[in-house]
Amino acid sequence: MVSRVIPVDPFDLTIFGGTGDLARRKILPGLFRRFRAGQIPEGSQIIGAARTDHTDAEFRDEVKTALEEFVDADKLDDNSVAGFLEMIRYVSIDAKGTKGWSELKEHIRDDHISAFYFSVAPSLFGDLAERLHSNGIADDSTRIVVEKPFGRDLESAKALNATLAEHFDETQIYRIDHYLGKETVQNLMALRFGNVLFEPLWNAQYVDHIQITVAETVGVGGRGEYYDKSGAMRDMVQNHLMQLLCLIAMEPPSQFEPDSVRDEKLKVIRALDPVAPDDIVRGQYEAGKNTDSYHADVEDDESRTESFIAMKLNISNWRWAGTPFYLRTGKRLKARQSEIAVVFKDAPHSIFGAEAGRHRNILTIRLQPNEGMTLGVTIKEPGPGGMRLIDVPLDMTFADALGADNDNVTEAYERLVMDVIRGNQTLFMRGDEVEAAWAWTDPIIERWQDKGDKPCAYDPGSAGPEESAMLLHRENRRWREIKA
Ligand code: BG6
Repeated sequence: MVSRVIPVDPFDLTIFGGTGDLARRKILPGLFRRFRAGQIPEGSQIIGAARTDHTDAEFRDEVKTALEEFVDADKLDDNSVAGFLEMIRYVSIDAKGTKGWSELKEHIRDDHISAFYFSVAPSLFGDLAERLHSNGIADDSTRIVVEKPFGRDLESAKALNATLAEHFDETQIYRIDHYLGKETVQNLMALRFGNVLFEPLWNAQYVDHIQITVAETVGVGGRGEYYDKSGAMRDMVQNHLMQLLCLIAMEPPSQFEPDSVRDEKLKVIRALDPVAPDDIVRGQYEAGKNTDSYHADVEDDESRTESFIAMKLNISNWRWAGTPFYLRTGKRLKARQSEIAVVFKDAPHSIFGAEAGRHRNILTIRLQPNEGMTLGVTIKEPGPGGMRLIDVPLDMTFADALGADNDNVTEAYERLVMDVIRGNQTLFMRGDEVEAAWAWTDPIIERWQDKGDKPCAYDPGSAGPEESAMLLHRENRRWREIKA
């Protein structure tokens, strides 16, 4: 396949929290891959900013180590690494004080795109925004990138939006949800709005139900302290699963342009019904053969935070009334598997009789691993013996179709950071979207808290608690298998 890498204009990107985990694991390796692909022009600067005292050289050593750990060895040629490291600078900075700000200002050039990635605790967002302005570093063209969690409820999200709005216009704020940067997630829009085939069927008349699964094998690991205050609802549903739901359910935007897309997503969130208590199952993983229980991981035997959640949602609008959306996500499950399955209704009348069986078309959109799409179609079983029907997959695995090793294939973070530099907000959340998602989430969480709701236990390596299967069984449906 021909490479379609289009270089961006030269930029100065400052990463607050430059020595942190996200920068090491995702942002810097992602930028390296874009540099290696020829997308980042010479003369750009990547400035790490954090509290630690480092020289440029010391920080470059850290970046090099991070690349060695998080970039495939066959992509780490000496020339590319050396070229990338030349762009790296470091400023030791105090987000709440005066240290480092004048040095940072010296690095930022007026005639370059300038962006600031807030890869720090949200409690520092306000200080950073204020100091960028009071030190004369930011102007109307500056872009800021903010990481999740964007608040922990509606009130805190509103406060955060208000703080940022004191210093930056909405068009300058890029709220990251890295799920929007995943290749397949964007493909969902291409599939829906680039083909005439699916859209006429994409509604309650033809779709029986939709399942969204984001299953992980990892536990909460070293993030116990953060996670125990969030749980699957705040950590995954309010943002990542909600975004997937929006893209699946939204009306066609008039253009693939930031506000058209975000207006349509917002309408979906606002059309969500409140969720009945019986339509939610929360779970917590037990200890396994070689793995600790959730309680041990967060060091709190009393914790009632969920590491798994399954729920049934209804969208009250003309397109979707009557078609349930089932969402589930959890840690320590059987496999790492994220997919969306659109389960179409039965044919209105089977001309083949009962023995032909019940067959349904299912469109599966795989986010990870093995990104791609499969459409299950019903055909005649080959050979003699009459008319027996079987389901076969029409399968497209992107890696096979597009070439896995291609420089066009980008990971979520690298795509999103390049979009910031290009000034394209389509794949970022607008303030009102985030607030609407919290407005829907808050009453659910408050209800658990008021009732002291206890999550159901589940075995690690399973598909979650039994009660989650029941959520669908009671309606004669079943979850798609999570395959190890
Ligand atoms: C993060 C969550 O936003 O997404 C993590 O905080 C989760 O808990 C992660 O593990 C999943 O991302 P991905 O890209 O690995 O599916």
